[in-house]
Amino acid sequence: MSNKTIVILGIESSCDDTSAAVIKDGVLLSNVTASQAVHEAYGGVVPELASRAHQLNIVPVVDQALKRAGVVKDELSAIAFTRGPGLMGSLLVGVSFAKGLAASLGIPMIDVNHLQGHVLAHFIQEPPPASSPLPPFPFLCLLVSGGNSQIVLVKAYNDMQIIGQTIDDAAGECIDKCSKVMGLGYPGGPIIDRLARQGNPEAYSFSKPAIPGYDYSFSGLKTSFLYNLRDWLKDDPDFVDHHKEDLAASLEKTVVDILMNKLRRAAKNLKIKHVALAGGVSANTGLRNAFEDHARRYGWTIYIPKFSYTTDNAAMIAITGAFKYADRDFCPMEAPAYSRVAI
Ligand code: KG4
Repeated sequence: MSNKTIVILGIESSCDDTSAAVIKDGVLLSNVTASQAVHEAYGGVVPELASRAHQLNIVPVVDQALKRAGVVKDELSAIAFTRGPGLMGSLLVGVSFAKGLAASLGIPMIDVNHLQGHVLAHFIQEPPPASSPLPPFPFLCLLVSGGNSQIVLVKAYNDMQIIGQTIDDAAGECIDKCSKVMGLGYPGGPIIDRLARQGNPEAYSFSKPAIPGYDYSFSGLKTSFLYNLRDWLKDDPDFVDHHKEDLAASLEKTVVDILMNKLRRAAKNLKIKHVALAGGVSANTGLRNAFEDHARRYGWTIYIPKFSYTTDNAAMIAITGAFKYADRDFCPMEAPAYSRVAI
């Protein structure tokens, strides 16, 4: 076995964050992300604007990631990049950049599934003394973001099975849309989270789905929220202003209950006590509290990544790339980006 130093550059551009990270021998040296404020005015990500912003950001972001890591590009062993799923125009910027740089340096390319990256974010290791316990296999991962809500059975780095997923909207999407109909702003997640801390979670009740297995559904909740709000606004045009904290707290509680009910059932049936949380919605205080509550009540060992590794980031792409590098699992130059695919 060779003792050669392995340096992986990770690139993420699947949605509205341009990110680059460097991992050297399994340790994260840099993780630089440029977010795109341009979408705020539109209440959601505008794909065309996102890909243009990626084009502006990709060179300076990669440059900063290399500089902060103290690495020059000739030291890179491979380039890992998000190949999908995501917005096609956004993905193409990162994928094309990764291909061009890898070809010019004559080094291998590693394609990473964005969702697999979110799950493997739990294995990002920062330089000592920072360290957090790594989940042992098998573990369950609740992956909740703006585009996904899934329960993943993680058997190994390279062996994951989605055992449940949303059949319509994702949890983050539902929260964002409810925030939008209340005129509270975008993205709604952090706004709802902040308001919910001052509200009564039992103030209102909204419909919960009844679907079999470990699958989720959030479109019924969104509709129930919208219809109730419409009725309340008829009686009081300032209803949102008067009750936004209680609305936020009740919405958050409903989403968290839906997520945890299925996760708890999966953990019980599969007899798994190591349970992880991943994706942008894992920043949510109510969801984090529910995880801690389940740890106390059901003896779970829980794994919640640092905030910067829950939202879209290249560190998770680089660590996934490092595992795939060890397996010599490279991808050919002609591998296209893909917008939709399972883990
Ligand atoms: O994983 P992510 O950064 O992007 C993708 O969807 O790929 O997740 C973004 C989602 C958005 O729906 C956002 O509103 C939600 O995560 N989010 C939150 C919080 N912070 C971000 N949802 C609830 N509470 C939060 N504190």
